Amino acid sequence: MNAINSNANSAATVSQRDDVLAAVDALRRGGLIGLPTETVYGLGADASNPEAVARIFSAKRRPTNHPLIVHLHRKEQLTQWAHAVPAAAWRLAEAFWPGPLTLVLQRAPGVLDAVTGGLDTVALRVPAHPLALEVLAAFGGGIAAPSANRHKKISPTSARHVRQELGDAVDVVLDGGDCRVGIESTIVDLSTGTMRLLRPGAITTRDLEQTVAEPVDPAISPVIRSPGRMPLHYAPDASVVLASMEDVPAKIAEYTALGVRMGVLSEARASAWPDHIPWLPMGNTASEQAHQLYRRLREADEMGLAALIVVPPSDRGLGYALCDRLCRAAGLGALLA
Ligand code: TXA
Ligand code: MG
Repeated sequence: MNAINSNANSAATVSQRDDVLAAVDALRRGGLIGLPTETVYGLGADASNPEAVARIFSAKRRPTNHPLIVHLHRKEQLTQWAHAVPAAAWRLAEAFWPGPLTLVLQRAPGVLDAVTGGLDTVALRVPAHPLALEVLAAFGGGIAAPSANRHKKISPTSARHVRQELGDAVDVVLDGGDCRVGIESTIVDLSTGTMRLLRPGAITTRDLEQTVAEPVDPAISPVIRSPGRMPLHYAPDASVVLASMEDVPAKIAEYTALGVRMGVLSEARASAWPDHIPWLPMGNTASEQAHQLYRRLREADEMGLAALIVVPPSDRGLGYALCDRLCRAAGLGALLA
């Protein structure tokens, strides 16, 4: 496996062009690449090569009927992958691509079943990361890429996380620095004539409704196979327990009595908490919190904590997606659904 460096989220330098070509070469040979995006790192393969796509599932140990997002270079490629693209999809693509929004549309003929999990829809997105866009431009085709973590584990937000999770299963890991957004893209289903939110993210319901001037239906169809919709997902090894600031001292006392090694993830540290309990700062704004959330959950595991008490942030705007991920990490299921 080659580790290839770049400056965080800046335009690729001349020497990085060679790195991009190495990634494109790996894709053309049916290999796997670690792909930096603005949300989380993806595990990319040529979306038109069934053997390459099969490799994604075995590297992640993910059930093969779970659909993948196809990453594109430009919105004009939509019609190669989707058919009957509604006006709302074009408006959203115009407003938010490149960016953290995935559109689920009716699939075009020829899109592999291995990519769609046999569904008659396909998920598409143009990511906003200069290295990802360079790879996509040079490759020319679609790159199928789920988050580059093992099934049910936390999505990676740095190249180091990708190497830790997947090691030699990846041929080339492009290092695009820490992911700017830090949580996975918003997914909206436009395949049925209405807008349905399948996964909250940095593009909020309000953003979608303001752009399309139509309401977003938050209902989740139970038939859609979305691993992001399983109750326990995005989970660290430490047990995540949600608590209000007021309840933290009681939780600390309870776990201390049981001999459980714990830490607290919250916006602020209260002076009453015992000094020996590690505090993991959550950040103060929603975007800072999203940027750091998965890193903090990984830190809890690196510290060998058995439990992480989490005080959830406000659930407004981007905070809604953060609370969704925290509820899942705690095994409580989704805010939606
Ligand atoms: O930010 C992201 O979206 C990242 C980066 C790498 O782009 N990717 C990502 O992929 O989070 P993944 O596979 O971890 O999550 C994609 C979600 C899954 O929950 C999958 O079930 C859902 O998208 N999905 C894919 N195709 C779908 C479809 N046709 N209908 C409904 N859900 C779909
Ligand atoms: Mg994932």
